[in-house]
Amino acid sequence: MASPFKNILLIGATGSIGSHVFKALSDSPHFTVTLLQRASSKATLPSHLRVITIADSYPTDELTQAFKGQDVIVNCMTSLSVSDQFRMIDAAIAAGVKRYVPSEYGLNNMRPDAQALNRVFHDKGKVQEYLRAKAADGAIEWMSVSCGMWVKWSMEHEFLGMHVREKRFVFWDDGEGLFSCTTEENTAVGLVRALEMRESTKNTNVYLSDFAISQRQLLEAIERIQGAKYETEYLSSYDLIKEKQEAVRNGDNLATFDLIETGFVTGRFGGHLEKEGELFNSQLGLPKKTVDEVVEAALRYINHVLGSKIWCQKPLTINLSLQQSLYQQSTHKLYHLNHHSQPNNLDKMITTLITVLLSLLVLPTFTLALPAPTATLANDNHPRGWPTVGACPPGQNLIVNAWPPVCMAPSGRPTRSGAVAAAVETGLGATFDANVEV
Ligand SMILES: NC(=O)c1ccc[n+]([C@@H]2O[C@H](COP(=O)([O-])OP(=O)(O)OC[C@H]3O[C@@H](n4cnc5c(N)ncnc54)[C@H](OP(=O)(O)O)[C@@H]3O)[C@@H](O)[C@H]2O)c1
Repeated sequence: MASPFKNILLIGATGSIGSHVFKALSDSPHFTVTLLQRASSKATLPSHLRVITIADSYPTDELTQAFKGQDVIVNCMTSLSVSDQFRMIDAAIAAGVKRYVPSEYGLNNMRPDAQALNRVFHDKGKVQEYLRAKAADGAIEWMSVSCGMWVKWSMEHEFLGMHVREKRFVFWDDGEGLFSCTTEENTAVGLVRALEMRESTKNTNVYLSDFAISQRQLLEAIERIQGAKYETEYLSSYDLIKEKQEAVRNGDNLATFDLIETGFVTGRFGGHLEKEGELFNSQLGLPKKTVDEVVEAALRYINHVLGSKIWCQKPLTINLSLQQSLYQQSTHKLYHLNHHSQPNNLDKMITTLITVLLSLLVLPTFTLALPAPTATLANDNHPRGWPTVGACPPGQNLIVNAWPPVCMAPSGRPTRSGAVAAAVETGLGATFDANVEV
């Protein structure tokens, strides 16, 4: 029997799923975790963590050096870069790594129709094929995790037809296609438990699904839990695929995300995982999640993100050029807060505008919506970033919306609007109101 894994190197620990995987790995007593971070990464990791910094292009020699002594490479890198993994796998083999876990976390990318739909599914499928070939030669073992969609992430990023800010829902075709969903937490815990069960997950695509759902069922749950009625729209998936594939061919990389979304919601491209292979949820002892609890948690979370309120005790100006980086480490939980590093003209313009407006001090609560993707409060890589910034006279609530990946305001209250909330709390004496209702 093969020895259990001990040393794990995690790539993309500061990302949407990487932060959950880092927490789950850190919670396990079995693993020693090292993080691999790009030199240009905007997240500064706490100094007590084992962090290896690597050039942004992930040079093969640096990868090989970084991978030495590691048992497993767990990759959580961003979608549009997954083809970098061919070199990473070569480096892992050269360094004597035992198992490689690719950046997957979606549907069954081994299907030719999925690979033909968009570049990300294609690259992920080819990476998996490459791993399978290397494993057949006995060079390395692999494991991938297919988890369907994350409802919370999707609500935040206006995926799956959900536009909760506008109470609007877009159906692909008849909205009856089924797709699997797994929470971010179950995905991360499932991955870690699968590593703890080395033999039964060797060279395996680990399918996870909390439930399969259609867009119609999803909207029904949202409306019922929110007590709201949404406007509905319809689009033809066939027309959209033609249009977005053409857009990608013309250089619009972001159109890839529409094709990824289409791959899930239509149910036609291998996203209904119950039909694609054996689910590992029970074997891995993952907590069962109902549609209602997942949708409600996502709504509460999104309400927090999209409509966080700051009660202003004194006049408040938010200066977007403020340099700020906050990290808190408590019992293995990593919270990080990113802020873009250089003030730009847009920042200066907005700051001036806010200051002028504040001088009036008679204004009611207001928000300024910035067109995406020009505002860079947080992650440049955010496919559809919509930060909103604001200013506030005393005695009013300020609505804040920003997009750092995982944040904590200094008061200790979690907030995805942390960049602005932290600036407010630390610098300007306001308090962050966490009592947000769905
Ligand atoms: N199932 C779902 O609902 C779902 C949703 C979204 C994504 N996914 C999948 O999950 C995986 C991870 O996606 P994610 O959204 O978690 O990733 P992400 O947050 O966009 O990025 C994760 C990390 O990738 C690293 N990275 C490497 N090259 C980069 C580049 N050129 N630009 C920016 N970051 C880069 C960064 O780490 P450092 O800064 O530390 O170097 C970053 O923090 C992907 O395979 C994606 O397709 C699944």
